[in-house]
Amino acid sequence: MSETLKIGGVSIVRTAALAPMAGVADRAYRLMCKKYGAAYVVSEMVSAKGICYSDRKTAELCTVTDEERPMAIQLFGSEPDFMAEAVKIVLEYHPDIIDINMGCPVPKVVGTGAGSALMKDVRLAADIAEAAVKAAGDTPVTVKIRSGWNGESINAPEMARALEAAGAAAVAVHGRTRDMFYSGDSDMSVIKAVKEAVKIPVIGNGDVNDLASCMKMYEQTGCDLVMIGRGSYGNPFVFREIAAHMNGEEYVPPTLEEKMQVMLEHIRLILQLSEKCEELAMHEARKHAAWYMNGYYGSAKFRGRCYQLSSYSEAEALAEEFVELQKMRENNKV
Ligand SMILES: Cc1cc2nc3c(=O)[nH]c(=O)nc-3n(C[C@H](O)[C@H](O)[C@H](O)COP(=O)(O)O)c2cc1C
Repeated sequence: MSETLKIGGVSIVRTAALAPMAGVADRAYRLMCKKYGAAYVVSEMVSAKGICYSDRKTAELCTVTDEERPMAIQLFGSEPDFMAEAVKIVLEYHPDIIDINMGCPVPKVVGTGAGSALMKDVRLAADIAEAAVKAAGDTPVTVKIRSGWNGESINAPEMARALEAAGAAAVAVHGRTRDMFYSGDSDMSVIKAVKEAVKIPVIGNGDVNDLASCMKMYEQTGCDLVMIGRGSYGNPFVFREIAAHMNGEEYVPPTLEEKMQVMLEHIRLILQLSEKCEELAMHEARKHAAWYMNGYYGSAKFRGRCYQLSSYSEAEALAEEFVELQKMRENNKV
């Protein structure tokens, strides 16, 4: 059996967790990853100030269903008072954990002093964490950080120590600087240095997309949990493969037919959970459909066709055609 780790009082199986991804890891995505073995999931980031001023999208972003647990709601903000207020609001949704985003690199967030801008102000980062911890009561507060702002200011270990002193129950570290956005290699040595700097659990993140890279992250950093973002695109199976390995169980990868069935299941879930009409909800489903078809013969062409899908029945027909194409390829007919 896999080990478990504790974040505050919350037990999490030590396999692999799903990273927060705005615009991607919505409830349908989280449920799919959970079903296929994710140990822990995090909501898309929610603006602390935004939810203090308006509850328009709060319920949609913050609802935690039992199937998703253990789950964190992630907040971003740059002011301790708003953060504390936002924590009180989201506690009504009973998240297992509240996570604070101090890693987002996008100018819209950084420009307000939030996300990875906080890597440049360790004092303020700690004040925000402390305010959140006080407001959260028994609910653990964690923080997701980057290795630093840029190559000249790698300060994740110092930041993690300040956050630990402020009462954070764990830190997740993406081994890239803000300047790198999402390109270049994620640096595991920074994650290792954070692990050596603090006593709270450390979650390692960056460039893990299969069993081998997950085990490398565990071995080279000593982290307590691995978190996977883009490697789960069209591939919720990655969590099952890792969990099976860590449980000493046999893993049989899905066939293409099975993958297409899971893709259709994912699309059905998107349609079911969306408040939009089928055609508009299919817009959300398009990128996922394309991801499930990635890496096969003709997938570039099919990607274009995925981006034109406007009904579930079209998705079914496309999946069937895709399977047929691969069979023809196997038989050297194309
Ligand atoms: C489309 C997208 C959206 C993201 N949104 C968030 C977010 O809302 N909060 C956050 O902390 N990180 C966010 N991230 C960063 C990821 O959680 C993760 O740190 C990063 O992608 C590196 O991990 P990976 O190499 O496994 O993808 C996002 C990343 C992507 C690609």
